[in-house]
Amino acid sequence: MSEAPFRVLHVCGARPNFMKVAPVMAAIEAWNASRAEAAGPGGAPVHILQSLVHTGQHYDADLSDIFFRQLGLPQPDHHLEVGSGSHAAQTAHVLERLEPVLLQEGPDLVVVVGDVNSTVAAALCASKLHIPVAHVEAGLRSGDRSMPEELNRLLTDQLADLLFTTERSAGENLGREGIDAARVHFVGNTMIDTLERLLPRARGGEALQRLRLTARGYGLVTLHRPSNVDDAAQLKALVGALRSISALVPLLWPVHPRTRARLEELQQAEGQVAGNSSDGPRLLLTEPLGYLDFLQLMDRARLALTDSGGIQEETTVLGVPCLTLRTSTERPVTVTEGTNRLIDPYDPAAIVGAAEEVLAAPLPAAVRPELWDGHAAERIVAVIAGWAAGPQ
Ligand code: UD1
Repeated sequence: MSEAPFRVLHVCGARPNFMKVAPVMAAIEAWNASRAEAAGPGGAPVHILQSLVHTGQHYDADLSDIFFRQLGLPQPDHHLEVGSGSHAAQTAHVLERLEPVLLQEGPDLVVVVGDVNSTVAAALCASKLHIPVAHVEAGLRSGDRSMPEELNRLLTDQLADLLFTTERSAGENLGREGIDAARVHFVGNTMIDTLERLLPRARGGEALQRLRLTARGYGLVTLHRPSNVDDAAQLKALVGALRSISALVPLLWPVHPRTRARLEELQQAEGQVAGNSSDGPRLLLTEPLGYLDFLQLMDRARLALTDSGGIQEETTVLGVPCLTLRTSTERPVTVTEGTNRLIDPYDPAAIVGAAEEVLAAPLPAAVRPELWDGHAAERIVAVIAGWAAGPQ
């Protein structure tokens, strides 16, 4: 790398982005520190300068601010405040508002993470300005193009110059799509880097006590996919299944704002659907939780029922059975090696039956898929540094 600093600009926007970008930023700081130490007093200047843009796709304190605090992310250098809207409007606002920031900052590389609307918008904006793009968590494919995230992944990967993958299947997907293998780097999972770093702190937390839950004595629920929550009949059927399961084991359900709004609509149309007093503590709805509380509650749960992407990976590493209420997953290693099982979300009896099976079986072993060792971000920074030094 030349003596001039190499400028990296990270873009994040929504809750699952924050735990993926934090370790990369920390690893760049560590890389700079090790370079400075190796050079000795008065030696090398900082060689990778980094800045952070928050698009504001998620803006609620409990979906954003608390994550910045707990993950030790710096305050964003730029906040685009795009907020909610249709897919087109949200994507367009990021494109429009990020462009002047990129022109002003003139980064050598834009780093995007995950698969949310902010990810694809930032990749497109940078590419149009001829700024190279690195995609962290590239190559995952559910094969289901009705998922907004699948379109975001496909397009982001076509635009990216550096593609960092979390599992081997992702590299195979990219190969099938004609992406040059030289641009693809299998590095592991930065979300698991964050889990590794913060698990000891999470385990010392008091969320379990505060919510009056006992270790392995409850299930943890999250639901927010449009296919599960935006259709009233489907949401009602899922709530019915959860109620049946809660007769076997209490369920804790931190409710995403999107789902909260849909539940309220359902409630207005049909009367109380979940969380009423007759459910008592057996189906307990809460506001979204911060990272540390959620990690403690996931780590101590008897099972998880979810449609999230990240939770499939985290439960695999924690050894918690995970029932994923989806027909496909973009993270197959969590099924082939881990604790994850796909359950047809349109079959309430199958959901209840799967939960019964999990409760009757002993807990599975925690599994660590290849390179999910807490050091993915270091590998990413090593690749970026080598790439910055070479011809581009
Ligand atoms: C987004 C991502 C999804 C990710 C999820 C994690 C896309 C297409 N989807 O879905 O991949 O798994 O984040 O949470 O990028 N809202 C608030 N406060 C907020 C943000 C949203 O109340 O801070 C409400 C708004 O009513 C909004 C709705 O939630 O319309 C959905 O938010 P949006 O960002 O569009 O998608 P998510 O469902 O959060």
